[in-house]
Amino acid sequence: MNFLDVASGSGALSIPAARMGAQVLAADLSPKMIDLLHRGARNEGLSNLEGRVMDGHNLELEDDTFDITGSQFGVMLFPDLPRGLAEMVRVTEPGGKVLLVSYGPPMNVEFLGFFISAMQIVVPTFSGPPMDPPPLPFQAADPHMLRRRMNEAELKDIAIEPGVERLTFRTGKEMWDWVTNSNPIPVQMISNLTEEQKVDVQLALDDMLRERASGKAVAVLEAEVNIGIGTK
Ligand SMILES: C[S@@+](CC[C@H](N)C(=O)[O-])C[C@H]1O[C@@H](n2cnc3c(N)ncnc32)[C@H](O)[C@@H]1O
Repeated sequence: MNFLDVASGSGALSIPAARMGAQVLAADLSPKMIDLLHRGARNEGLSNLEGRVMDGHNLELEDDTFDITGSQFGVMLFPDLPRGLAEMVRVTEPGGKVLLVSYGPPMNVEFLGFFISAMQIVVPTFSGPPMDPPPLPFQAADPHMLRRRMNEAELKDIAIEPGVERLTFRTGKEMWDWVTNSNPIPVQMISNLTEEQKVDVQLALDDMLRERASGKAVAVLEAEVNIGIGTK
């Protein structure tokens, strides 16, 4: 099948889809992410995966093209989520599926809580990102809101299922690199830190991850997710 991954990042959805044999187009605004995706595809010898730099608000693609269009932790953080979703629907074939994966409420997203706590150890006056209104990545955290958005996009047979994302980290530096490359909230949170403070946050994360791992090689952090599927 033809699968489009919108805001693909380095390929968390695209690469497994390509491994399963789909013809995959991965679109992301960031050239760096598309480079990483191409590197991952090359490493696995996946010739059925193409990455293109593209704004998900304005896909440079024909109508009615893909069997499935998906976006995992992507369109959920767009400044104009309805527009991003409408674009996904537009390029999906009639009868095809649209898949949206979004985070649940911030308090159930452990990597964010860990990051905020590590920031507070280093900068005791830091009170966390503003939560009223919630930051963009949480605009579809409520499953009812996700359903409403999918309804407004005129999708049919909508199902919203709960899920859990499990992330594993070995070190504070590994978690820092992942978090600050994948989510705009932490990027904004660290914008005023000195280089020394950045290292201190990584050391604080190290301690917290070691405690969570309790003797194991990796710490597992969980996040509540909503998986929305609809038919065009
Ligand atoms: C949290 S990451 C998710 C990446 C991947 N889908 C995953 O599941 O790991 C969000 C991605 O959205 C991309 N992004 C943000 N705004 C975008 C836009 N307007 N159009 C396309 N991609 C966008 C970012 O570059 C980033 O790679």
